[in-house]
Formats: sequence, structure tokens, C-alpha cells
Amino acid sequence: MRASPNAGAPTDPKPLRLLLVSPEAVPFAKTGGLADVAGALPRELARLGHEVKLVIPRYGAIDGAVHGFKEWKRLKVSTFSGSVTTIIEQASLPGTAASVLAVRHDPYFGRDGLYQQAGVDYPDNLERFAFFCRAVMELLRALRQVAGWVPDLIHAHDWQTALCPVYLRTLSAAPVGIQRPRSLFTVHNLGYQGIFPASDYPKCGLGPELFTSRTLEFHGSVNLMKGGLVLADFLSTVSPTYSREIQTVELGFGLDGVVAERKDRLAGVVNGIDVEVWNPATDSYLPVRYSAEDLANKPACKTALQREMKLPTVEVPLLGVVSRLVSQKGLDLLADVVPELMALEVQLVLLGAGDPTYEARFQSLQTRYPTKVGLRVGFDEGLAHRIEAGADMFLMPSRYEPCGLNQLYSLRYGTVPIVRRTGGLADTVVSYSPLAVKEGRATGFIFGEATSEALLNTVLLALRVYRDPEEWRSLVLAGMRTDVSWARSARAYEELYRRVLALESK
Ligand code: ADP
Ligand code: GLC
Repeated sequence: MRASPNAGAPTDPKPLRLLLVSPEAVPFAKTGGLADVAGALPRELARLGHEVKLVIPRYGAIDGAVHGFKEWKRLKVSTFSGSVTTIIEQASLPGTAASVLAVRHDPYFGRDGLYQQAGVDYPDNLERFAFFCRAVMELLRALRQVAGWVPDLIHAHDWQTALCPVYLRTLSAAPVGIQRPRSLFTVHNLGYQGIFPASDYPKCGLGPELFTSRTLEFHGSVNLMKGGLVLADFLSTVSPTYSREIQTVELGFGLDGVVAERKDRLAGVVNGIDVEVWNPATDSYLPVRYSAEDLANKPACKTALQREMKLPTVEVPLLGVVSRLVSQKGLDLLADVVPELMALEVQLVLLGAGDPTYEARFQSLQTRYPTKVGLRVGFDEGLAHRIEAGADMFLMPSRYEPCGLNQLYSLRYGTVPIVRRTGGLADTVVSYSPLAVKEGRATGFIFGEATSEALLNTVLLALRVYRDPEEWRSLVLAGMRTDVSWARSARAYEELYRRVLALESK
């Protein structure tokens, strides 16, 4: 019997044992939003009373002393070239009962970068992450033997961990009599699939029966993400809209058919943000602090940002951007309209790093408009916070955006987001209309077409609304009062985990 669609997940008060596996997590290692998610979700799940462990690779860039990593156990991991001993190190996730286990094998992870060096992927990435996932299987065995700990569910994130659900089904780490942990595989970005030459396949340690077009083979190559999509017990993405978009040719990156085939086992859960780290009332990166109850200091954040970015401290609308500079983010649409924007009384502040072509393009715009464009190329956590606080509007013209975190930070900081209607942006921003403002629902501006005209028109609309202080204040306050916390999202994951555990195995 199936439960009626409105009945929701069964309410089971029993705490769950959860093993989260991620290639990056704050505060240890970060290249993008996945790290924010993998750092915050275990903490919130632990707060809900679950037993949570997070597994990450022990990268060279992680300072073991700062984070208190200590050797827990040495394990033998079999690889395509023989057995390798790895050290599992353990630390606690700051401010929580959840623990972190790091897989240490310096020849693979003791490097400066996580996945690449100077913009070029490490050539042995398949080997590195196949090893990581094999080590997770050995870790399962060790946790059971040493600590009697068997997770109910393994929650794996993105292509680097996709072999975990595959190995769970094929190598079966569980002995007879113990149920195999269930697996949930979350896609944070289908644009990155972990595709490698077929000649690398033996390094996965899987039999030839899994190298077919039904499983890990993809147009003659190995596709790790595809393995996870096919073999995990359940799939999720980081917003409901994105879970639908990845079933389309436009945004499926060639895997739309594979995803669509599993649509009955696919959910979309919007990310939260760490509302303690991202809190304008306590944020130590800011020169002064403010809140929804007392916005008086927000203008001082703007003036300080203008000074920091060497812009004149004049009262004009300030547009902010913090982004990886890659085509996904649609910043070419913005670059195209900078000349039109600069004819107006506005300033633009951009922080980003990535594709050298985009970096050069914004460098030349900054040289052309030195009193109106402030640019910082690089990764700067503090400046990201100061832009969120000091800007009036935040731009995210993404071509696609699985969830997006910056628009959530913007809402929380009273900086009105201007976003494209895609993925999590569509699910988290309530678009301006005079009625939506009157009802106190509007939190930002949304445009549909991925064109520079559509972006420009929407910025022009936002600039008009900005001139009406009352309407603007309504947008700011509605954003600041939106619940963007992890607490809400973690409850959604808890419900999803219970749903996965209640499934008949397939
Ligand atoms: P994505 O993961 O696709 O890059 P998200 O919006 O989910 O996009 O997350 C991006 C995260 O990385 C945010 O926490 C954002 O503040 C941060 N970030 C991106 N670029 C920079 C940068 N140049 N400096 C500091 N933080 C950055
Ligand atoms: C990916 C996506 C981004 C999402 C993040 C965390 O990097 O590009 O939209 O917010 O993962 O889920």
C-alpha cells in the first residue's frame, strides 16, 4: 500500500546514523557552495539528534593542527595497483557532536589544490576519488568492527563521491546479516560529471558488466556521476526547480534521460545557509553591524565598501557580485551591459576568480570605468561578507543555478537580489510586482531570458524601485525576514532520509 501523497513521511522519532561523504567542507576545504552545505548540514542534523559522521579527503591545504585532526586508524585499501595503507584522521566539526573523518593518503591528496592546479585538472582525478570511495567502504567496515557503528544511510555529494553508492551495491561492505546502508546521492551541479577516458576504467576496480551504456559508460568514456545516478537508492538535487531542469535536454548535460528514468526516486531540497556565520548583526568581517530591526548601520557598510574598493563615497545605488567566474554564472550577460549601466548613476563591485577570459574582461571594464567599477580578482571570504552587507543590490544572472547561496546571503543581509529565473534562484526569490510588494512578499527581481537586454531591463526596473524608499524598504525587510536557515533544510533532509529508509529495496 502506498501512503497518500499528503500523508508526508512517517514520523519515526528514532535517531538516525548518518554518514555524509563530501569532497569538500567548510571550515576545512572549499571551492564552492558544496563546501558550505557539507559543513553546515551535518551540524544541523546532529542538532536534530542524529548520529552524524562526515568523511572528506585530507587535503594538503587542511591545517591538521588548527582543526585538531588526530590519527584514528590505519586501513588497507585495495586499489587497481595493489593494497595501499591509508590513515583515517578524526576531528570534531566545530560547535557540534558530529565528527569528521579525513582520508589521508598524501600521494593523492597532499597537494595544494583540491581538484586542479592553475586551472588544469589533476590527470589522476579518477584514481584519487576512486581511492577515496574505496577508503569509505573500508571505513564502514572499521566503524562497525571498532565502534559497532553501522550507518542507516550514506549521503554522497557530487561526482567525486559517486562511486560510494556504486561500491555499496557492488562490493557490499556489509557482512551477511547486516543490512546494507541505503544511499542518497545529491547532485549539486550536473555540469561537473567526472568524465575520464575509457582506459582509466580499470582504476575504478569494477567489473566489465558495469561499463555499459546503462551504467558508467557515457559516449565511450567513464562517467562517475552517471554511476551514482543509476545505482544510488535515491537521488536529490539542491532545489525542486533544478530537479526538473536536469530532466531536460537544455540543462541535463547529456544525462537528462538517465535522470528522467529515475524521476520517481528524485527529490529537490533547497540549501540553507549558516545563519550564525552569515548574520549582519554579529558578522565580525563587517565594520559595523545591523539587523532587520535596526538598519541604521547598513549605509556605513556601503561607505566602507566603497572606500575598500577605491570608489568615490557618493550616494548612488551599488550593485554587488561575488561569484566563480565561469560560464554557468552568466557574467558575460553583465559584462555586455556594463557600458549602458555606467551611463547611469550606479557603481558595480565584483569579487570573483576563475576563467582567465572573464577575469581579463572585467579587468578591462574596471580600467575603463575606474570611478564606477570596483574589482577584486581572487578568493576573499571577508570581502564576500562586506559586499553582501555594503551593496544595495546583488546580481546573479546565472545561465543555470542548482541552488545558489549568494542570493540567500543577500536576502539575509537586506541586499536585494536580481536573479535569473532558473534552479534555486527561481525557488528562493519572490519577484517584484507592485502587488507582491504591497503584500510584503516580494524579496527581489527575477528575469527570464538569458539575454543581456533582459538583465539590463530588470536592473533598470530595480533602479526605479530603489528611488521609492518605502517600496525598497519593504523588499529589504521581506528578504531579511525570510527563513533561509539550515534548520529548515535539515528537517527536509531528515524527512527524505526516512523516506529512503522506508523504501522497498529495488
Ligand atoms: P557555486 O557553488 O556554484 O560557486 P554558490 O552560490 O552555491 O555557487 O556558492 C558559492 C560560495 O562560494 C558562496 O559561499 C560564495 O560566497 C563563495 N564564493 C564564490 N566566489 C568567491 C570569491 N571569489 N571569494 C569569496 N567567496 C566566494
Ligand atoms: C553547486 C551549485 C550551486 C549550489 C552549490 C551547493 O556548486 O553550482 O548552485 O548552491 O552547489 O549546493
